[in-house]
Amino acid sequence: MRARNIGASAAAALALVAARDLVQKKHALLRNFPVVGHARYLLERIGPELRQYVVTSNDEERPFSRDQRSWIYASAKEENNYFGFGTDNDVEHVQGHAYVKQRTFAGRLPDLRDAQAPLPSAKVLGGPRGRAKAFRPASVVNISAMSFGSLSGAAVTALNKGAALAGTMHNTGEGGLSPYHLNGGELVLQIGTSYFGCRNEDGTFNLDKLKSVVASGPVKAIEIKLSQGAKPGLGGMLPGVKVTDEIAGIRGIPAGKDCASPSRHTAFHDVDSMLDFVELLATETGLPVGIKSAIGEMGFWEELATLMERGDRGVDFVTIDGGEGGTGAAPLIFADSVSLPFRMGFSRVYSVFAERGLTDDITFIGSGKLGLPENAVVAFALGVDMVNVGREAMLSIGCIQAQKCHTDACPTGIATQDPWLTRGIDAPSKAIRAAMYLRTLRRELLRVSGAVGVAHPSLITPTDIDILNGDYEARTLASVYDYKDGWGSLGPKLADEIAELLTA
Ligand SMILES: Cc1cc2nc3c(=O)[nH]c(=O)nc-3n(C[C@H](O)[C@H](O)[C@H](O)COP(=O)(O)O)c2cc1C
Ligand code: SF4
Repeated sequence: MRARNIGASAAAALALVAARDLVQKKHALLRNFPVVGHARYLLERIGPELRQYVVTSNDEERPFSRDQRSWIYASAKEENNYFGFGTDNDVEHVQGHAYVKQRTFAGRLPDLRDAQAPLPSAKVLGGPRGRAKAFRPASVVNISAMSFGSLSGAAVTALNKGAALAGTMHNTGEGGLSPYHLNGGELVLQIGTSYFGCRNEDGTFNLDKLKSVVASGPVKAIEIKLSQGAKPGLGGMLPGVKVTDEIAGIRGIPAGKDCASPSRHTAFHDVDSMLDFVELLATETGLPVGIKSAIGEMGFWEELATLMERGDRGVDFVTIDGGEGGTGAAPLIFADSVSLPFRMGFSRVYSVFAERGLTDDITFIGSGKLGLPENAVVAFALGVDMVNVGREAMLSIGCIQAQKCHTDACPTGIATQDPWLTRGIDAPSKAIRAAMYLRTLRRELLRVSGAVGVAHPSLITPTDIDILNGDYEARTLASVYDYKDGWGSLGPKLADEIAELLTA
């Protein structure tokens, strides 16, 4: 009898917990997995103690280590994101580790205590090529391309609202501009090989449709996707079951039928015709136009820089995606082994433009785990002007790195179209988390710049950073990547302009 009473009380308590989990809005995981989801939070809380005796260290997990994820979660929740007791890295022996060299004295700096401090780009996007709608991006940190389709509508809504709150731009991804992208955040419209949203029935590009998509939202720039780091040179396949009426309408494809994306563009077939296409889009829309690519063979970049040297045609921005970048789904061989990692790939491309004196005319954007301050600082020192954050933004809205994005069973409702799972996301509160994370990353970049004695991360140079090479030797970033004097730095006019803007 007594046992039965205890059982009934326990069941009632569990039912109460389940009911509370289902209605609360803070944790998507608990909304989707009432009661059992608590186990994950318990493990997270007692994890550090447990791990000292069992499994992995704080820096071992990939793609994002536990320390990196903790920093993102804490930043997004506006919790204490400091770490106590000093580093737990073996700083003298981690090959490739980057060390920022602070300065004892500094010139004029912005107010580093201001958590809302703006951090605009040092370059005007589209300015050098005289585009009608050239502008200075308000934030050097922006949200990377991730389509509605690979992400849920609720996740895209949260990211777009977060972008609006943080004053960053939000890249639509190649899946087209969806209603979820129209929540206030300014957009970069991405065009992939399938021209979703701006295609004819046979899959070829349609300029009039592009112009009406551009007119339908706050599109600030157009990005032509050539490839992405996690699966370069590979076409995509959206299975018919995932092509819902809604996705079909947005992408301009028939519902319920498999949709294969070709691996290469049909609107152009070489660098020369690509530049004609870029100029066509820029002239017809007035917007800055750029390309996104992972880095493989260098002939493409040599030819592009040579043609741009003439001055009559050119891209306004180049987004370089590292091989370590993320994806909704990719074959392992492509994710692991095709295309160069970010630092190596970016430095090669930058060098090609630097040899021709073109770097001040192009906005360089980087992606590939650059949503972590330590990686972003190295990217800026190599010559990046802005960073795009993909998975880090997903982590900020609740992704737990379950790595099931390719299965439609994402437990947090972010990378799935399953209505039960996506209902777990409370877009308004997740938007605030995304915004907090984006602002915190910007603030950390500003603070590291201050430590180096400069007013803006674009003023950090490749000699301000050393890379550990072997056990007891370090070389400057400039020497590791064969940078010549002045490479990786802004020209004097741009440098003065941005320092003045931030310290005025
Ligand atoms: C779920 C998901 C979907 C993505 N979709 C696209 C896409 O549509 N177009 C694109 O160029 N890159 C896409 N990417 C790649 C990201 O935009 C980004 O380049 C890459 O993940 C590296 O940034 P990160 O390390 O900050 O995630 C996607 C990545 C993820 C994780
Ligand atoms: S499946 Fe896992 S890794 Fe992918 S978005 Fe969902 S929680 Fe994140």
